[in-house]
Amino acid sequence: MDLRPGMRVLDLGCGRATSSIFLRREFGVQVWATDLWFSATENFQRIDDASVADGVFPIHANARSLPFADNFFDAVVSIDSFPYYGTDDLYLNSLARFVKLGGQIGIAGAGLVQEVEGTIAEIAASGRASHRQRNEFTRESCHLSPRF
Ligand SMILES: C[S@@+](CC[C@H](N)C(=O)[O-])C[C@H]1O[C@@H](n2cnc3c(N)ncnc32)[C@H](O)[C@@H]1O
Repeated sequence: MDLRPGMRVLDLGCGRATSSIFLRREFGVQVWATDLWFSATENFQRIDDASVADGVFPIHANARSLPFADNFFDAVVSIDSFPYYGTDDLYLNSLARFVKLGGQIGIAGAGLVQEVEGTIAEIAASGRASHRQRNEFTRESCHLSPRF
């Protein structure tokens, strides 16, 4: 995506707002950190702790009834969250109305960056996996609920 300082960006399904903080720090964009399950107040605390409260605005809202003006955003980013709310053919069009003409929508899913060989138990035990991968594998192996 081509993100420039001052752009208005909707980080939809931002979770704990870490991506919103990243976008502010890395690109100097203004970010509306929007999520349904995570508290805007707790996100504000994280945003303030990261010293980016001047450009990251926590919003508690449902992606299917967003409280924004049409054509307000230069860009929307959706990281590992689109499948939760983009559940019908019409959703993307309904989201696009919040983006100005020529704006951008970036949708990213989660995935592994390298081929996984061996069983999950072997990888978790071998130390070949990253700390995060080990956590994910362990969670899957143990059938624990997802991190959210
Ligand atoms: C797997 S988490 C990803 C969170 C974050 N983007 C990340 O990568 O860490 C999915 C997020 O989608 C959000 N979400 C699910 N349904 C939503 C909806 N209808 N409106 C807004 N956010 C929603 C959840 O609150 C959750 O934070």
